[in-house]
Amino acid sequence: MSFENIIVEKKGAVAVLTFNRPQALNAFCGALMDEVTQAIDDFESDDTVKVIVITGSEKAFAAGADIKEMAAKTFVDVFKEDFITRNWERVARCRKPVIAAVAGYCLGGGNELAMMCDFILAADTAKFSQPEITIGTLPGAGGTQRLTRLVGKSKAMELCLTGRMMDAKEAECAGLVARIFPAAELMAETMKIAEQIASFSPLAVMMVKESINRAYETTLAEGLRFERRLFHASFATEDQKEGMQAFTGKRKASFKGK
Ligand code: CAA
Repeated sequence: MSFENIIVEKKGAVAVLTFNRPQALNAFCGALMDEVTQAIDDFESDDTVKVIVITGSEKAFAAGADIKEMAAKTFVDVFKEDFITRNWERVARCRKPVIAAVAGYCLGGGNELAMMCDFILAADTAKFSQPEITIGTLPGAGGTQRLTRLVGKSKAMELCLTGRMMDAKEAECAGLVARIFPAAELMAETMKIAEQIASFSPLAVMMVKESINRAYETTLAEGLRFERRLFHASFATEDQKEGMQAFTGKRKASFKGK
């Protein structure tokens, strides 16, 4: 399938999805989100793709949902089309690791999509905000929920109630961003991290992802039980045997996803 609002590239085991709507600072129109959904479906069913990177331009990861497209919609419109749920949340359901590489504006729905990824790597130019309050609404793609879990109630409240922008350093200190790189090095550093993850057992990688995400859904006792069972299950894989034998044999492991 050819895309108009995103660019999709495969670099070895890493698939890179780049938002490409510069005329609107990558604002998410419906067509763009349909393409993101299609691209993630394609990556998920392609066994050669081990890690997905989602990025934007130097100026903007994304300036949020497309306000011009949304402005005239009624309750009936958004309810019937299942706005957001229908085509935005595919990223959050992806079982393969997804890294957001953010430079420039990461606002509203842009920040919400970045938070649906497994972690955020930021350029020192990145600016984060949930500005929906300034246009008479509230975050609608998980901002009040995921941001609160990442940065805590006080900071999430302050950010969502004022709509102010937070720079990369503040975002890292607050726990929204995993690491910061100089803007010129963001993609090279992101690819290094993605390639490292891609070199590990894809089964173990998926189990780590599932287990950490479970921490947000359950009690500590149930989360620990879930982790323990997945840990036990990993002993049924060839990759666990290979990884541990390679360690004792002082050689590099070669994982097969079996
Ligand atoms: N939707 C639609 N178009 C947008 C947009 C958006 N979210 N953000 C920027 N654009 C468009 C602008 O309208 C402009 O188009 P024209 O040239 O046709 O006028 C173009 O992108 C460039 O933008 P600016 O001229 O405004 O650029 P700037 O550098 O002066 O300002 C900005 C940059 C501070 C990011 C500013 O564009 C801005 O505030 N954008 C809106 C941010 C916002 O409110 N996002 C939240 C959206 S709501 C949401 O996301 C809901 C949800 O939770 C799901």
